[in-house]
Amino acid sequence: MAMTLFQHVRQRHNADLAALINAIADGAAAIEAKIRIAGLGDVLGAAGNENIQGEQQQKLDVFANDTLTDVMKALPTVAAVVSEEDDQPLIFTDRPNAKFIAIFDPLDGSSNIDVNVNVGTIVSIQGVKPGADARAAILQPGSEQVAALYVNYGPSTILVYTAGKGVHAFTLSGGEFLLSSEDMLMPEQGTYYSMNEGNIGDSEKVYGKAIDRFRDGTLVGQKYSSRYVGSFIADFHRTLLKGGVFLYPPTKKAPNGKLRLLYEANPLSFIAEQAGGAASNGRYRILEITPTEPHMRTPLVIGSLSEVSAVGGLITITPRE
Ligand code: AHG
Ligand code: MN
Ligand code: MN
Repeated sequence: MAMTLFQHVRQRHNADLAALINAIADGAAAIEAKIRIAGLGDVLGAAGNENIQGEQQQKLDVFANDTLTDVMKALPTVAAVVSEEDDQPLIFTDRPNAKFIAIFDPLDGSSNIDVNVNVGTIVSIQGVKPGADARAAILQPGSEQVAALYVNYGPSTILVYTAGKGVHAFTLSGGEFLLSSEDMLMPEQGTYYSMNEGNIGDSEKVYGKAIDRFRDGTLVGQKYSSRYVGSFIADFHRTLLKGGVFLYPPTKKAPNGKLRLLYEANPLSFIAEQAGGAASNGRYRILEITPTEPHMRTPLVIGSLSEVSAVGGLITITPRE
């Protein structure tokens, strides 16, 4: 039998991190079981309330959030939890030796739940020294992450993680995540660009120029096709395997970009860089940004080195203030 996720993390890292990632994977397996029968169970549609993002929470957002939060409550190594679906972080005060902060988007791509298109779960794990202030440790830059993972609930359910020693993928089979790809590398250059082109008119002109030049082949010397799923994990997973670039630039509606730094951009930027790719906010490396608040948003250009730098090259780098 292929190596299990727990065995892989235990072998490459340590038992505490293996226990945490395995518990998250168990939570993901429970979420996957709900998604599989979504049309039959009571998980489709809106939950009837708005989250801090100003978005209508879907029932599956709430189920996924409750499932992952319960996993973290049961693990004494977890000091705090930040979730896209909760206004405030959850700080566990009775755990002086806890060492991890779990920061997650429990269900990514909510707009796709009801139309049976891939959705996902994204988790960023930061470290906190025993007895240190867990709330402060939430706002560390992405470069400090201990680990990052996402689950892609698709035709098969795949969990991809890094903890700083390469990117590895596991496929869910019989309730267990089994190793399916090890030490994954993103192609240096791809043939897809991925952006919600409905926003082109709203974004800074430079992004429209970049897309024009992907289309006519003058940006990095070849013509590109467009692919856009609308679930970040699906667009990213394709980029990890096939190369290319995903962009979510600032728009009139989202002047700082739509994606959230702590639980979307940071974890997938860690994975992208570990696979030889890159991730910027158009000007600076995502992993160097010091967060100001848990739900802050960021513009995002993520994917193969050649495309990310080509887009970055189009944007005049304003010197750091
Ligand atoms: P979430 O469902 O967690 O709010 O994330 C949705 C995000 C991301 O998954 C996707 O890339 C993006 O929203 C799509 O936004 P648009 O519909 O504006 O293109
Ligand atoms: Mn999301
Ligand atoms: Mn979400």
